[in-house]
Amino acid sequence: MTKVEIPITRNPVSPERAEAIRRAVQGASTMPSATGGSRLAQPSDAEAFLEFLQDPAIHAPIYTLPRPLTLASLGDFIADHLEQRERGEGLLFLNFTEDDRLSGYTDLIIWPQWAAGELGGAVRSDLQGQRRGVEGAKTGFNWMFEVLQLDLICETAAPDNIRSARLLGGLGFKRKGEVTSHRPDGGTRASLVWEINREDWGNVVWRDKTKAH
Ligand SMILES: CC(C)(COP(=O)(O)OP(=O)(O)OC[C@H]1O[C@@H](n2cnc3c(N)ncnc32)[C@H](O)[C@@H]1OP(=O)(O)O)[C@@H](O)C(=O)NCCC(=O)NCCS
Repeated sequence: MTKVEIPITRNPVSPERAEAIRRAVQGASTMPSATGGSRLAQPSDAEAFLEFLQDPAIHAPIYTLPRPLTLASLGDFIADHLEQRERGEGLLFLNFTEDDRLSGYTDLIIWPQWAAGELGGAVRSDLQGQRRGVEGAKTGFNWMFEVLQLDLICETAAPDNIRSARLLGGLGFKRKGEVTSHRPDGGTRASLVWEINREDWGNVVWRDKTKAH
């Protein structure tokens, strides 16, 4: 059986465009968030990040996090993302509320050759259920199209992750199929896939009738 991988839509772009996307990723040091200011995760954040992720309401639905979650595995995860940024292929941001508490994180995978990307992440559990994740995702996707100059965003979520499905459907993403996602520990998980391209994003009429900005 052919292995289906993400993104499902793959339109190769010119080497010049791919290089411009890599440079935009390499130059990014913050991105919009609905839970406070964001900055790049640094190795010294591993302890606070570990504490944030301990809550199963945060880590359980996410297949890209290291397992087991330890100080060492998270330190490697952060270091690996700094290397991804140097290659222009990934970014890891931490978000902080005004009281300096970690309030969320955003993990971006970028495929410069297809001008495509995926945004993953989580909101602190006491901030969930208030549509902050929805607002954060909306401004984050907008930033990926505008600042990183992507043409396509491809998202995955576990079949039982109703909130992510509602979030993506509400923002105009279309279901594209199902893939097997591979966890860093070698385990697998079925994932539903959604995609939206730049043109459709520009034409979405938001449910709250306002456009992302
Ligand atoms: C997924 C996540 C980012 C969503 O952000 P959020 O701000 O908490 O989202 P909310 O729960 O306020 O709302 C999301 C949508 O799901 C709906 N929803 C929430 N709980 C629901 C339930 N039990 N049944 C049906 N719909 C539900 C909300 O009404 C909202 O839909 P709407 O946009 O049509 O109003 C956040 O919950 C989170 O961090 N979860 C843990 C990690 C995670 O799952 N990350 C995504 C991995 S793909």
